[in-house]
Amino acid sequence: MDGRTVAFSQSTIIELMVPSYANFGGKVHGGTLMSLMDKVAYVCASKHAGNYCVTVSVENLEFLQPVEVGEVIKLMGSVNYVGRKSLVVGIKVVAENLQEGVSKHTNTCYFTMVAKDADGNTAQVPPLILKTHDDVRRFLSALERKRLRLQDHEFMDKYRQDFVYDTASAELLSDQRCHVMLEPES
Ligand SMILES: CC(C)(COP(=O)(O)OP(=O)(O)OC[C@H]1O[C@@H](n2cnc3c(N)ncnc32)[C@H](O)[C@@H]1OP(=O)(O)O)[C@@H](O)C(=O)NCCC(=O)NCCS
Repeated sequence: MDGRTVAFSQSTIIELMVPSYANFGGKVHGGTLMSLMDKVAYVCASKHAGNYCVTVSVENLEFLQPVEVGEVIKLMGSVNYVGRKSLVVGIKVVAENLQEGVSKHTNTCYFTMVAKDADGNTAQVPPLILKTHDDVRRFLSALERKRLRLQDHEFMDKYRQDFVYDTASAELLSDQRCHVMLEPES
C-alpha cells in the first residue's frame, strides 16, 4: 500500500458563527464547535484513508476561551498518526474577530478515526509519509498519547475493580466539597 503525505489530506473548514449557534449565555454552543471538529476530522481521515471513517475517541477537548457570535472559526486538520486501521487527526481551532482583526487560538484536540470499507468492515489505511520535523513530532506525540491512554485505561479498570470505601478513601474525601451520607444497600 503506497503512503500518503500529511499535506495530501490537510483540510480546513471556515465557518461564520451565526446567532442560531448561540447558547443561553449568548456564546457559541460547545456542541456546534464539536460538530465542526468532527467534520474536519472526517474530511482529513477519509481523504487519507480513501475510505469512509468513523469517530472512535476525542482527546484534549477543552474550551479555553468562549467563541462569540459574529466571529469566524477556522478549523485546521491534519493527519498526525496512522496505525493499521486507525488514524489520529489533530485539529487546531482559531477564532477571528473580523472587525478588530484579532485572532485567538481556542483549542487543539485529537480525533481518533477508524476506516471502514464498503461492507462496513474495518479497513487498513495507507502509511503516512512524514516530510517535516513537525510531522515527525506530531506522529511521535500521538504514539505517546496512545501509550499513556492505554496505561490510564488499565489503571482505572483496576481502580474500579479493587474499589472499597475504607478509611483511606474517607480521608481523601475529608477536604473535598462533598458530604458522604451512605444509605444502607437494599
Ligand atoms: C471503531 C470500531 C470499528 C472499532 O472496532 P474494533 O472491533 O475495536 O476494531 P479493530 O479491533 O479492528 O480495531 C480497529 C482500530 O481501532 C482502534 N480502536 C478501537 N477502539 C479504540 C478506542 N477506544 N480508542 C482508540 N482507538 C481504538 C484500534 O486500536 C485499531 O487501531 P489500529 O488498527 O490502528 O491498531 C468500533 O468500536 C465502532 O464501530 N465504533 C463506533 C464508531 C462510530 O459509529 N462512531 C460514530 C459515533 S456514533
